[in-house]
Amino acid sequence: MEEKRILCIGLVCLDIINVVDRYPEEDSDTRCLSQRWQRGGNASNSSTVLSLLGVPCSFMGSLAPSRVADFILDDLQRYNIEINHTILHPGCDFPASIVISNVSNGSRTILHMNRNLPDVTAEDFEKVNLSNYKWIHWEARNASEQVKMIQQVEHYNASVSSDQKITISVEIEKPREDLYQMFSYGEVVFVSKEVARDFGYESACAAVKGLYSRVKKGAYLICPWADKGADAVGPDGIIVHSDAFSPEVVVDTLGAGDTFNACVICALSRGQSLQEALVFGCQIAGKKCGVHGYDGIV
Ligand SMILES: Nc1ncnc2c1ncn2[C@@H]1O[C@H](COP(=O)(O)OP(=O)(O)OP(=O)(O)O)[C@@H](O)[C@H]1O
Ligand SMILES: *[C@@H]1O[C@H](CO)[C@@H](O)[C@H](O)[C@H]1NC(C)=O
Ligand SMILES: *[C@@H]1O[C@H](CO)[C@@H](O)[C@H](O)[C@H]1NC(C)=O
Ligand SMILES: *[C@@H]1O[C@H](CO)[C@@H](O)[C@H](O)[C@H]1NC(C)=O
Ligand SMILES: *[C@@H]1O[C@H](CO)[C@@H](O)[C@H](O)[C@H]1NC(C)=O
Ligand SMILES: *[C@@H]1O[C@H](CO)[C@@H](O)[C@H](O)[C@H]1NC(C)=O
Repeated sequence: MEEKRILCIGLVCLDIINVVDRYPEEDSDTRCLSQRWQRGGNASNSSTVLSLLGVPCSFMGSLAPSRVADFILDDLQRYNIEINHTILHPGCDFPASIVISNVSNGSRTILHMNRNLPDVTAEDFEKVNLSNYKWIHWEARNASEQVKMIQQVEHYNASVSSDQKITISVEIEKPREDLYQMFSYGEVVFVSKEVARDFGYESACAAVKGLYSRVKKGAYLICPWADKGADAVGPDGIIVHSDAFSPEVVVDTLGAGDTFNACVICALSRGQSLQEALVFGCQIAGKKCGVHGYDGIV
């Protein structure tokens, strides 16, 4: 039998990167030094990193049929990411971001557009053959729908032997009240510093301690905190920490969080400890901060 895969579910979007040597003034004509298309979206980025780590992985998300979708599908294929569960929604605008990247000061200004593409639903998810997966990761976007999907996995888990059960992880990245019910699902919960701050916590350590009562019994709660590294806690109540591994020059931190998540999931899925997983996540995420995109991070 083929090795079981890790499935990431969430957003894929197009980032249109415009490189400038100074930020455009209003009512002016400014020339870009270059422009390029790039596949983005948090769950889509995490699947890229999993694939670079040599983990067989799949991505599930929504796409609207278009030239952009073809570009995205090609790029997923290029990274050897299985895409057959991506749901197409004809007639919707495709989510895209215009990124203005200023080479003289390293700033990145991002304009988001077209967010009307419906997310993957529980009905879409019913068509997934769960026996192909050992781990499913959700980027929290539509909690009510995603809880239904997770319940499908619980149901599946109850019907198979313990070595066939699927582990669930969830990332709560956006400070939105309706997403907070997602804390109570999954064996691994990632919480961003933005969400931690929304609860009034000013460090990763305080956040994992304070929010642990919200996760389900036995789960790990993990909080990355940029150049402070990351903290986590599991059922034994011991707070685990890794420092960040800062590159000599910070070139591009966008996607560091997605890299961290992918590395932690990879390490835990290979049976490493929470401490080992945190260190691995910080090491590779730190490397990622030293390069554009994901070139040479593993
Ligand atoms: N400036 C940095 N120097 C070194 N490591 C960093 C830096 N920023 C992020 N990291 C690493 O990336 C991990 C994830 O960081 P975090 O999620 O806080 O980043 P982020 O900037 O929000 O990234 P993203 O925008 O992709 O989510 C951190 O735990 C750390 O290991
Ligand atoms: C992805 O995550 C980053 C930070 O972790 C966040 O700033 C960004 O808004 C997220 N992107 C999307 C499209 O949700
Ligand atoms: C699901 O996948 C398994 C393993 O790849 C395969 O044996 C099985 O036939 C598939 N089930 C369906 C309904 O396609
Ligand atoms: C969640 O998804 C359902 C089904 O597609 C939709 O009806 C609902 O409006 C969505 N909710 C949010 C908050 O996006
Ligand atoms: C699936 O099974 C695993 C292994 O027993 C368990 O840890 C997990 O809680 C189950 N997942 C769900 C969503 O029930
Ligand atoms: C996805 O990764 C690319 C490449 O590193 C990055 O430019 C982009 O901002 C990332 N997207 C998100 C949502 O983090």
